[in-house]
Amino acid sequence: MTESRAPRPGIVGAGQLARMMVQAAIPLGLTPAVLATAPDESAALVAARSLIGPPTSLDALRSLAAVSDVVTFDHELVDAALLRRLEAEGHILRPSAAVMAVGQDKWFQRRELEQLGLPAPAFRPVPDLAAVEEFAATYGWPVVLKARRGGYDGRGVWVVHSPAGAAEVLVGARAAGTFMLAEEWIAIEREIAVLVARRPAGEAVTYPVVETVQRDGICHEVLAPAPIATGLADSARAFALHIAEALGVTGILAVEMFVTRAGTLVVNELAVRPHNSGHYSIEGCVTSQFENHLRAVLDWPLGASGLTAPAVVTANVLGAPQTGDLMSRLPDALALPGVHVHLYGKAARPGRKLGHVTVLGAVIAEARARAGRAAALLAGTGGAEGSEEAA
Ligand SMILES: Nc1ncnc2c1ncn2[C@@H]1O[C@H](COP(=O)(O)OP(=O)(O)OP(=O)(O)O)[C@@H](O)[C@H]1O
Ligand SMILES: [Mg+2]
Repeated sequence: MTESRAPRPGIVGAGQLARMMVQAAIPLGLTPAVLATAPDESAALVAARSLIGPPTSLDALRSLAAVSDVVTFDHELVDAALLRRLEAEGHILRPSAAVMAVGQDKWFQRRELEQLGLPAPAFRPVPDLAAVEEFAATYGWPVVLKARRGGYDGRGVWVVHSPAGAAEVLVGARAAGTFMLAEEWIAIEREIAVLVARRPAGEAVTYPVVETVQRDGICHEVLAPAPIATGLADSARAFALHIAEALGVTGILAVEMFVTRAGTLVVNELAVRPHNSGHYSIEGCVTSQFENHLRAVLDWPLGASGLTAPAVVTANVLGAPQTGDLMSRLPDALALPGVHVHLYGKAARPGRKLGHVTVLGAVIAEARARAGRAAALLAGTGGAEGSEEAA
């Protein structure tokens, strides 16, 4: 990188995370390139430069790296061996190929957490039903079966209550060529997440702990700050920072955790990129996760992560069968005071994340009601006075 021109970040993937990175890049004078699989992808619609090609192709990755000073990621659906090739060819990847390999594989994540001595569910790779039954003999039913790779929004996670249930999942997995992991089922009180932004030399900023409200494996709402005891929140932040340092993450690390019904913390999942649990930070923190991701991967000073209001709530706009033309309802959502709407430019499909809405307020309940109402209005699933969802 020279000082005479703006460094060029390149982003593998062109979903909403890349789109919001592009948005954060503008005030910094940056114009990221994205590698999209199609020209109408979320970030390809807004990036100054979109290359079209599959993220699994070495040629496509090379063409992005050729126009980038640093390569970063919108998702982890890449081949880590190809990323190592790029590094060997002299390209700078942040996070590195080694970190991406962990980020894309739940088994590797579990092993790292075990080595760090952090609390996590018991686990083992399960090649067949006998292995699941053996696991259940020790940890009991239900068992959580997870695809090691490729899962998202709960696709790739099954809670099975019997050998018959497990057998059904394993048949599907085998047909798809998916390697599976068995995990101990945790009795969850609530789900939380912590973001860390980290520069190559180690400077790091930890974000406030948020609660993620999941339904059917999909995050519906994010509440900041999480309504948990200060001591627990401090431990969660310390765990996340420890993981970021131990793995050597550059950019954003998101750590999903469970608060168990016994009041303890269990680390669930890692994502080595900006994360759905951090969209609230665009308006809700001094520096958004997207800006700090760019600053971190470019090795620039990080911005403060503090909240800009006592309560910040983000509600995801999820496609429903009746969503149809979301834009036609946008004015109704904008008519609600204090509602920050983010739409991703994606076609509506049931369960698909089409956008999100953030509301800042004095208390969580009030912000949550308004954000939920706006998101439901946009999705076409409600939003009338009576359907407000109070905290
Ligand atoms: N060991 C477990 N015990 C109980 N519930 C679990 C366990 N693991 C996962 N879950 C539930 O399943 C959800 C999805 O699991 P996980 O986050 O591992 O998968 P994912 O589909 O990759 O998620 P994401 O959309 O965050 O990428 C969790 O948010 C949690 O509600
Ligand atoms: Mg998850």
